Amino acid sequence: MNESEFRAESQRLARGDVVDVEITAVAHGGVCVGRYEGQVLFVRHCLPGERVRARVTDAPKHGRFVRADTESVLRSSADRVIAPCAYAGICGGCDWQHVSLEGQRALKATVIREGLVRLGGEPPERWSDLQVEAMPNDDDGLGWRTRMRFAVTRAGRAGLRRYRSHEIVPVDSCLLSTSQIRDLQVLRRDWAGTREILAVSPSASPAIAVPDPQPGRARIQEMVDDHVWRLDATAFWQVHPEAPRTFIAAVRDMLQPQAGDHVVDLYSGAGLFAGALADDVGPTGRIDAVESDPIAVRAAKRSLHGQPQVSLHESAVHRWLRSTMVTSCDLVVLDPPRTGAGVRTMTSILSLRPRAVAYVACDPVALGRDVAAAKQAGWRLAHVRAFDAFPMTHHVECIALLLPNSAAEGDESH
Ligand SMILES: C[S@@+](CC[C@H](N)C(=O)[O-])C[C@H]1O[C@@H](n2cnc3c(N)ncnc32)[C@H](O)[C@@H]1O
Repeated sequence: MNESEFRAESQRLARGDVVDVEITAVAHGGVCVGRYEGQVLFVRHCLPGERVRARVTDAPKHGRFVRADTESVLRSSADRVIAPCAYAGICGGCDWQHVSLEGQRALKATVIREGLVRLGGEPPERWSDLQVEAMPNDDDGLGWRTRMRFAVTRAGRAGLRRYRSHEIVPVDSCLLSTSQIRDLQVLRRDWAGTREILAVSPSASPAIAVPDPQPGRARIQEMVDDHVWRLDATAFWQVHPEAPRTFIAAVRDMLQPQAGDHVVDLYSGAGLFAGALADDVGPTGRIDAVESDPIAVRAAKRSLHGQPQVSLHESAVHRWLRSTMVTSCDLVVLDPPRTGAGVRTMTSILSLRPRAVAYVACDPVALGRDVAAAKQAGWRLAHVRAFDAFPMTHHVECIALLLPNSAAEGDESH
């Protein structure tokens, strides 16, 4: 080790160090960026424009950045508020309790814009006005979580996990959960002998708490418009109570489905979009819904049997695309998990030559990467809407419209 390497090494931040840092920007994942002596810190519980005293919580030896948490605020942002929850900063469930709802949405809009620009190759000025929309009837960002997974301590108390840790924080209440889940009193009961509790408050059946959830233990019902879904409690369903109706409306608006259309619904879960779009395409249309989780496919079978225009395929999307006899379609909706679809899957989807694709994205970074893949294949990003479907957390839902470059410019809706 030469002298300058030795100096750099001895100045490297280590776990437990406390430093004062200027916070310059927001990053993906509920953290903000600061710099100290040339080192990058990802700091929690602060805001861009603030100066904070932060304690290093994680300093990997060869990592390019260290993680830290705010100990005290030396200069605060106008967006800072008193967190409504007593466990904010202790429990790892929320990231932005210390930020006004408007401020949270502005942070999320920045993260989405950066995903589109840095990864999606979009011009920055094009998305400078992008807004994250509040969900209908949401005025405080609380009471929206219809699915909660509580961990149980050895002593039988239910709680939530600390940030990036297995440690369980026993809590008296979670303000994000719906009032129906709070009424289940999961956090006050003795759960000795149980490891985990799934609490669900569905829209069309009573709330339930399922100890050590396994498929087949409990059935619930969800209702959207006139459709009823009969689901296993463990099956995927949109978490915010307003999400199903809001996302269906946004997808419809972008795709403008017509009677007789052939729609491909990828990563279809229990068939939320398939069921709604089946009404639009009518009996002369066709929907192919593709989903790999057998529990979700079973729920779709139980719920969509009255719509014979829907065909359900239990398969991984990339495998189905490789083996299907379907070589073209009119419209595609895809709603992949956080990892996104990936270049090969995007290329296969677009080779079906649909009129339009609605991409429902729960991760703006994955969306940016998949937009880049679509552009490589001769498509363009025509429109993006973003929804604050997970207030107080860093999560956000985007719905993006992709159109072939050959579609008329300005044809932003179909
Ligand atoms: C974000 S959820 C969307 C479900 C549905 N669109 C909805 O809104 O209820 C993503 C779904 O993709 C499924 N999935 C994950 N990876 C998959 C893959 N490679 N192929 C097919 N489905 C997959 C998951 O089981 C899950 O149901």
